[in-house]
Amino acid sequence: MTSKEVLYASSENAEDSGLKKVIDLTAKMGRRWEANQDIRCISGKLAIFTGNLNYEHETFQAKMMKLTTILLLILISTPGILTAQVQQRQSVFLENNWKFSKGDFEHAEKVDFEDSGWETVSVPHDWAIYGPFDKEVDKQVVAISQNNEQEASEKTGRTGALPHIGDGWYRTGFQLPELDEGSRILVVFEGAMSDPEVFVNGEKAGEWGYGYAYFNLDITDLVKSGENNLLAVHLSPKPLSSRWYPGAGLFRKVRILVLPENHFQLWGTFVTTPFVSDSLAKINIKTKVEGKNLRLETVLKDADGNVLATETETTLFGNEFEQNIALENPRLWSPESPVLYYAESKLYDESGRLQDEQTTRFGIRTISYKAGEGFKLNGKVRKFKGVCLHHDLGPLGAAVNKAALRRQIQLMKDMGADAIRSAHNMPSLEQLELCDEMGMLFLAESFDEWKKPKVKNGYNRFFDEYHEKDIVNLVRATRNHPCIVMWSSGNEVPDQHGSEGVKRAKRLQDIFHREDPTRPVTVGMDQVKAVMASGFGAIVDVPGLNYRTHLYEEAFERFPQGLLLGSETASTVSSRGIYKFPVEQAVGKMYDDGQVSSYDLEYCNWSNLPEDDAVLQDDKDWVIGEFVWTGFDYLGEPTPYDQYWPSRSSYFGICDLAGLPKDRYYWYKSRWDTKESTLHILPHWNWEGKEGDTIPVFVYSSYNSAELFVNGKSKGVRTKNKDSKLERYRLMWNNVVYEPGELKVVAFNEDGQPAEEKIIRTSGTPHRIVLEPDRSTIQADGKDISFVTVSVVDKNGIPCPTATNQLIFEVKGNGNYRAACNGDATSLELFHKPTMKLFSGKLVVLVQSTKKPGDIALQVKGKELQTAKMIIQSK
Ligand code: GAL
Repeated sequence: MTSKEVLYASSENAEDSGLKKVIDLTAKMGRRWEANQDIRCISGKLAIFTGNLNYEHETFQAKMMKLTTILLLILISTPGILTAQVQQRQSVFLENNWKFSKGDFEHAEKVDFEDSGWETVSVPHDWAIYGPFDKEVDKQVVAISQNNEQEASEKTGRTGALPHIGDGWYRTGFQLPELDEGSRILVVFEGAMSDPEVFVNGEKAGEWGYGYAYFNLDITDLVKSGENNLLAVHLSPKPLSSRWYPGAGLFRKVRILVLPENHFQLWGTFVTTPFVSDSLAKINIKTKVEGKNLRLETVLKDADGNVLATETETTLFGNEFEQNIALENPRLWSPESPVLYYAESKLYDESGRLQDEQTTRFGIRTISYKAGEGFKLNGKVRKFKGVCLHHDLGPLGAAVNKAALRRQIQLMKDMGADAIRSAHNMPSLEQLELCDEMGMLFLAESFDEWKKPKVKNGYNRFFDEYHEKDIVNLVRATRNHPCIVMWSSGNEVPDQHGSEGVKRAKRLQDIFHREDPTRPVTVGMDQVKAVMASGFGAIVDVPGLNYRTHLYEEAFERFPQGLLLGSETASTVSSRGIYKFPVEQAVGKMYDDGQVSSYDLEYCNWSNLPEDDAVLQDDKDWVIGEFVWTGFDYLGEPTPYDQYWPSRSSYFGICDLAGLPKDRYYWYKSRWDTKESTLHILPHWNWEGKEGDTIPVFVYSSYNSAELFVNGKSKGVRTKNKDSKLERYRLMWNNVVYEPGELKVVAFNEDGQPAEEKIIRTSGTPHRIVLEPDRSTIQADGKDISFVTVSVVDKNGIPCPTATNQLIFEVKGNGNYRAACNGDATSLELFHKPTMKLFSGKLVVLVQSTKKPGDIALQVKGKELQTAKMIIQSK
């Protein structure tokens, strides 16, 4: 749901609201009144969100009064600004001017606590991503049973080796308007890592458990109307609480929600589309409110703002309105055509006075999962071409950033993927918004553990007290996203064993059903024999198998559902641009350099090759798709190097930690992308010292057949061969003898005619730096990021695929250097330092906008290299 609750004016929307003048005026009035400060108009009154309550308190009040007078004068003549008598809903994200410190402090929740020495940060924030990497952080001496280990051993880097454990405090101020009698104030967290304790004006407002959970607290009784208030949050992530890098801190948004006495409940609106045909859709809207004798008016609009239908309702069932609205010629939501609609709702009292307003965004689509048919979206069978994603954003850590998420989704879409699974927890709301807009199906997961632990301090600590609340909040906060087509109540939970686990599976699924009767629930199951025997697998709506391709047939026979999902597949490992010899299929293979081979033939003792899944996906109607582990590398879980330092991030990704595609990207693209052809050669052709040796060449292609040439000499034609698992999907020349020069592949169309060719060449030494931004114009909002791929080429412009030059970055103008990442899972260079080595010839630099529009200049230099410069425009 996207609520149009933001009814304040700040420098971001000042232009539109006519408040620019005010903001500029404020800039003249002292340090706290800069143009980029959070200055907001609430109910026609001025609110200023400051990060430090102690700061110039008296002067602050005096200035406030002076400014309020000026502002009110302007507001009277400014259209679109609230001056209504009834308290209006206000939703204010607390982004800037937080004070933060690691460590535990006595009385840090108190108003007069001295925090001036603390760091000033903006939220979302991840305190651990700045490092340093340290193998002692969360060193775990464990036997990982999911990895079939029998004996405990020391695991370094399992949770990223970044300092995420310990206490941390955040403090910020927020100014409230004069509140009407009956209005409610909530503080809403979209995640807080972890064990959050929340204080308002020195008093405890409440606490939560799971770091990924969305939650809200009613702080009405603790706030001061018309005054500045203090919000303080204590977090205390524990050791042994995760199997991957969890991040630490207020890593998702925090907001204050001011609700009028009669109001729409937070997360209380549910839009479904129970009937959809080409000519007609029935839109069912259930709206939970607080208050009596109310009238609800809902206007349906399309994305262009055209009014499509209006419906008024006065009958309340308990505290819920129900409306059914007919919409002719609906345009259906799908990944290929992500059409969105808006329900604008207004709540009136008996006398016709407007009480509350909200806008809910939704899509019109149908889903069904049936034996004999599989999964259908809008009546058409399709299979999930999905990827699992952990929540971290590589060099940004866990701190949510929309530009980074958009880039991830775009990369996956360009590969032909159409689905994401949020492994193994609640997704960020930003990710869901983007999936709605860009067109990505979504499998929203909740937990990696239930009652039985995988790690000592995992979700098992919270299960009894929180599982229902966490599911309820997950579903209510996200159920209007058309992208979500399935829930997952768990991943490889140890509760798959034992009869208690079956009961828990049923109970969790029932909570999902109660909250949302429109979507099925899955569990990612790896203990396939156990869940067959216990009945666990039989009660799950959609049985999901993690790996265990050899048990698909048996599970299909044994389970009653008549379909099966590859909830987690492949877990093939590779390091971008690294190739190992001899080229052979291998399980858990390790090398001295802490890398794995990019020939895509290495995996773990529980996992498999992409081809093992592909044959099931392609040959079995009852397999409804897959979610590959994983779309991107993530921090932590450096399998197969769980015991090898300095490995600190995964090797499973189709793209590396920097978001740079590995060879496997093209393997999946060749199968999944139906719009563009794929023709990709591996390995690179820089093998100095291996002249005369055999270097196998693979081609990942959407074409069925191709011919390979080395320096113009044919190495033969290869054609995909259905009878061989590998050759069905890869074109392979296993006996190519290396000589430097040119490697060319010519692909043939169905008629055997040359259709496309691709050439790679042996490069000389690095000579010049090349910069390629994903976007050269970004938004001047202080958050947007341009991801610039940096590589080096030789004198002739040929890319140098093995270059490891140390580079230095400088950003000037209206932007900042944010981070860099080279995708090397063994690198201990810190992301936020403006220098990094290339890994396999590449890295990515992240350049972030400020709130000031204008040019941003990026310069990248390195020893004996021609420097590169570019301008990114920030608008
Ligand atoms: C699965 C698990 C994932 C990840 C993966 C690595 O068993 O669900 O979280 O650990 O293995 O292959």
